[in-house]
Parts: sequence; structure tokens; C-alpha cells
Amino acid sequence: MCGIIGFVGELDSGGQTDGGTTGSVGAIIHEGLRNLEYRGYDSAGVALVGASSGLTVAKRSGEVDGLTVPDVPDATHGVGHTRWSTHGPPTDANAHPHTDCVGDVAVVHNGIVENYEALKKELADHEFTSDTDTEVIPHLIEEELAAGAGGEEDGKEGDADLLAAVRRVEDRLEGSYAICAVREGDDRIVVARRGSPLVLGRGENAAFVASDVTAFLEHTRDVTYLEDGDVAALSPDGVEVFARGEPVEREIERVTWEADAAEKGGYEHYMRKEIHEQPESLRQTLAGRLDVSAGDVDLDVSFPPGFLADLEEIRIVACGTSYYAGRYAAQLFEELAGVRATVEIASEYEFGAGRTPDRTLVVAVTQSGETADTLGAVRRANAAGARTFAVTNTLGSTVTREVDGTAFIRAGPEIGVAATKTFASQVATLAMLAVAVGRDRGALAAADARSVLKDLQGLPGAVQQVLDEEEQVREAAREYGDGEAFFFVGRALGVPVALEGALKLKEISYDHAEGFAAGELKHGPLALVTPDTPVLAVLTDGARAAETMNNVTEAQTRGAPALGCVSAGDTYDTLDVSFEVPNVGVVEPLVANVYLQLFAYHVANDKGRAIDKPRNLAKSVTVE
Ligand code: M6R
Repeated sequence: MCGIIGFVGELDSGGQTDGGTTGSVGAIIHEGLRNLEYRGYDSAGVALVGASSGLTVAKRSGEVDGLTVPDVPDATHGVGHTRWSTHGPPTDANAHPHTDCVGDVAVVHNGIVENYEALKKELADHEFTSDTDTEVIPHLIEEELAAGAGGEEDGKEGDADLLAAVRRVEDRLEGSYAICAVREGDDRIVVARRGSPLVLGRGENAAFVASDVTAFLEHTRDVTYLEDGDVAALSPDGVEVFARGEPVEREIERVTWEADAAEKGGYEHYMRKEIHEQPESLRQTLAGRLDVSAGDVDLDVSFPPGFLADLEEIRIVACGTSYYAGRYAAQLFEELAGVRATVEIASEYEFGAGRTPDRTLVVAVTQSGETADTLGAVRRANAAGARTFAVTNTLGSTVTREVDGTAFIRAGPEIGVAATKTFASQVATLAMLAVAVGRDRGALAAADARSVLKDLQGLPGAVQQVLDEEEQVREAAREYGDGEAFFFVGRALGVPVALEGALKLKEISYDHAEGFAAGELKHGPLALVTPDTPVLAVLTDGARAAETMNNVTEAQTRGAPALGCVSAGDTYDTLDVSFEVPNVGVVEPLVANVYLQLFAYHVANDKGRAIDKPRNLAKSVTVE
């Protein structure tokens, strides 16, 4: 995925916008790109349009800070891009913006133009300078402008027009995209969205467009989420939005996050900040949703009458960390809601024979709401006629527009590529959903629901207690962090946590780490165990601790050091390190996970890894 931003605004002589912003157009776009870098950091670039200087483009491979944004004193507007490569390696030539042959149109793009090879053939007389799919877009715009789009060609007076040209180009593109286009001599930014996110920021005499509000949150909180198929023109006079060629009004929403929520807040890495934010983000997740005395939950979601009672199966679809949150939740749905619950890696999901669409609820779990594999699964479920539901962190994201209902996890922005606080909030939200479904179906008694809700209520405090033990984890990371490989084990609710713990470590430290159901160790992986392969175990409530400990002992017998996350009050004398987990019932394994997050962080930090931007990864993966 990539990050895109555009800004058009009236600056006074001090470079001040009405929103109190200082800086030139180039500086504002550069800062926005820094805020978007979590979306990709293979290359960065800007295109600035000056009243008399025309179009100036600067781009290069590498991170945003390595880009020198040219000084264009008369710049009135511009666009910027930070890239995560899909077509073509991360070179200077493949960096965005891309331009046409004339050199007066520049385009930034997030997404994939699936028919770019066919379009390139149609543009045989154009000279291409990159390997990207994106480059066809400015060349197509050039053709439409040359043909007089919006002018005589469309039966109107006047010259060809960028807005009309983009609209026509859109009809020729297949795939997903968010596009921003600028043209020399035109004071507008023209944007289009289909399948990739775009949000407008609205100031009095300034307008922004970006992949995500964090790009411009310090300048304006009034935002409009564009719908799929929308085309918009941004100018100092305001914003015009069109759907199917007709002007439309789109709602302006107020963002209530604090701007500094998206900054590092004194931590060296976003990941550590986000790990430490978990008590607060979990409080937000739970706020106003638990009625402990009634044993009920209010998630502000509704289902057609009788749907939950007749439910045959809940199928969870997700990727990566969200998939592990789904594996945790599936066990809760079966236990608390009395319904069969299965989990599928989204890219592998098919509706499958032997299932009844109108008695199936497909739940997509996705932090970003933009993961292409998960969206693909939702589309296949919708096509099969199943009811679909999303659990996501991102308001206005694509998934929310494609499902029948959504529960927001309210974790706040997560910038670190490695998901941490959103995993905790996903599991907490899904646990509430399991209680709500169980109560609705009459499968969960009020007293049992109360007990689960009390555990959930205790979650933020329990996580805080773990965070207070960070020094112990730092020491363990120092002592065991040089292992050859790391094995994470657990049973029941401990399995998804073991898998997530291993993913976190491999993602940010680049060490070999694997998660297993503890009982599986002896069926093969035990052959890998040596004194150089530390074993980390989930030994809490909900994770069949005593049986898991037997398997840990088998590994210790082969010389492996063992570190365990152990329920408060329990003791396993043979463990090399014992991390204490406060007693919070079914969410104890989730609390144990915080130790594993801290372990991964400190191992990676001791090795000097690029923790917030691990190699080869991006925060949100918008290609299949
Ligand atoms: O935005 P999503 O939750 O759909 O993202 C799914 C995965 O790409 C994501 O969880 C990924 O595995 C993270 N990097 C894990 O830390």
C-alpha cells in the first residue's frame, strides 16, 4: 500500500493557513508524508504547482526524510506520495509522482491498475519511464486532454479540463485506486477513489486529501470520507464532489482524536508507545459497552429478528495478527454463544459447500479495514448471500462500506507496522460480541455473562500491571534474546497467543520464531529443540496450563530454556523465568500476550532493528 496526500491552500505572507498552519505548500506535504510513512517507505515524492513556476516534481527511492522537497515560493498546491512497491522495484524512476509526455500533468496513486499492460499497449506512442502500473494514468489524462475532454469534445465551450479528463480515465481503469492529479495552469487537485481509501480535510481557505486523516490532523479535524466511485476537485474556494458525474454532498465529520495521539509521545518507537497505550485503548474499547450487573453488552449493532437464534455458524476471516484475534474469538463464540465458529485465513476463504448462507455470519477482522485479502473474502461471502460483519479500527474504511454491520474496536491510530494494541482491542471487542450473541441466543446465562464482563472490566488494569513489570522482560530479552530460534507454545486460548507472540518476534527482530499448539511439539517440532532454542509458554487460565507445562518440560529435558507467563498464584519451579499474569479469567492469555509483545520489542531493540518499519513489510496490505 502507499500513502498519498494533497494540499491546496491560501497562505498569507508568513505561510499561515486559516487553521494556524505555518509552512510552505511543500513543507506541509512533506510533513504529511512523514505521518503517512507507515503505509510504505520504499520511495517518496512530491509535485508542486506554482502560479508562474509551473509544475515541479521531486522524487527518489528511500524514506521520506531522504527526500529534498524543492523550494517553490509561488506554489499554490501540490501532491505527495510514499510508496510500498507492487509493480516495479523501489527505484527513483518508479517513485511517484508520475508525469505525462508533455510534462504538465502529475499523478500519485495508491492501489493497482490491473489492466495497465493492455492500456500501455493502447498508449504505444507514449514514452514510459517507469515499470509501474501507475504511469498509464498521467498518459491517459494527457490523451483525454488532447482530445478536449470537458471542452469542445463534450459539447462545451472552453479548453479541455483536468476534472473531465480524470473522469474519463477512470472509466478505463480496472482494479483499485485512489488518485490525486495536478496540472500546470490549473489551480485544482483532482482526486478519484475506487477501492482504496481517500479522505478530504476541509479548512476555510484550504483543503487536504490523503489516504488517512493522520496525514493532516494537525491542520484540520473536519473531514469527508469519499465513497467508492467519487471524484472530487479541491481548490482554495472549496471542495466539489461528484458521483457518476453528478455533484453530491458528502457529510463532514469531526475527528475527535488528539493530534498527538499519532505522535510518538516521548517513546523511541511507536510500537513501544502503542504497547503502553493498551490500558487506555482497552478502556476506550470497553467504554459504555458493558452492563455488568445485567450481564449484557451494548455494541450498537443489530441483526434481523431471529437471525442470531437461527445461526448455524460464525466464520471469521482475517490475516496476520487479526487472524490470531479471530482464533481467540472463535473459541469464545463456541463457549459463550453456543454456536459453531470457524476461522479462515482470508486469502484462502471460499464460502464452501454444505453451508446455509442465510444462517451464516461471516465476520471480517481487520485493523485497517483495507486489507485486500480480507476484502476479497468479504466479497466472496456477500456474493454467496451470507450476512457479513466487520470488526475494525478504521472508521470510513472500505470494509465498513461492504458489510451488513460493523463494530469498531476504538483502539486509536496504530502507526507501528507490528500490530499490538489493536490485537488486544480486537479480542476484547469480539469477546463482547460473543457475550451479546450468547445472550441473544439464550445460550449464556446472565451470571456467566457477568463473570466474563467482570474479566473484561479488569483487563485494562491487568495489562497495566504487566507493563509495570517491563524491566523483568527487558532482562529476559537480554539473557535469552540471542537464541538460534524461539518456540512459543500454549493450549486452547493460549494457542492464538503463542502464534501471535511468534509473529511479533519474527516480524520485528527477524529471528526465527514459531508458534505451536503445545501438544504438537512432540509430533515433530521437538526435533528442533536445543539449548539454543528458548521456549516461551502461555501457562494461564483458559490455556490448559498444567498440560502445557508437561510439554514445556519435554523441551527442557532437551536443554531448552523455558520462560512462562503464569497465572498469579500458580508456580512452576522449573521455569527459568516466570512472568506473573493477573487473574482475569478468559482474558488472561490476552494479558500474557503483553509480556510477549514486550519480549519481542526488547529483543529487536537490543539488535538495533527498524522496529516501526520492519524490512519488507507494510502496515496495511492492499494487494492480494
Ligand atoms: O489491517 P489488518 O488487520 O487487516 O492487517 C492484517 C495483517 O496484515 C496484519 O495484522 C499484519 O500481520 C501485522 N503486521 C501484524 O503485526
